[in-house]
Amino acid sequence: MRNLVMGLLGLSAVFGAGYVYADEPKYTIKQVMKEAMKGGLCAKVAKGEGSKEDKEKLVEMFTAMGQNTPPKGDKGDWDKLCAKLVADAKAAQKAEGKSAIKSANCKACHDNFK
Ligand code: HEC
Repeated sequence: MRNLVMGLLGLSAVFGAGYVYADEPKYTIKQVMKEAMKGGLCAKVAKGEGSKEDKEKLVEMFTAMGQNTPPKGDKGDWDKLCAKLVADAKAAQKAEGKSAIKSANCKACHDNFK
């Protein structure tokens, strides 16, 4: 029994440490806001005017955003919303022309998470 307990403690220590030292998100939420939202990268891609690099960066930024924890709101809802953003950005990546990124609703998200 003692071994089992120690084993579990050991495991959680490993996972706990792994969690702390896991790759830091590549961008903070603020960085994503500055570049993708306020900066217009997201709008550019949605309008079909983004380059291949722009689209890649947007997917990367939304992915990183989901790895951050928002200042308020439910982390589970945040994860879902960010997953939607990533999916929309990936769809835009494949699309030739316009591809609405509907989940990028400034006010709706700010009301819940900012
Ligand atoms: C998926 C949710 C989400 C969406 C969509 C979103 N935001 Fe944000 N935004 C946030 C969160 C969360 C913060 C707070 C970040 C913090 O304080 O760390 C924030 C903060 C900001 C800030 C302040 C950044 C700073 O440096 O303090 C600006 C400006 C901003 N958003 C602009 C926008 C604009 C413009 C749009 C729409 C085009 C938008 N955001 C869409 C979640 C979102």
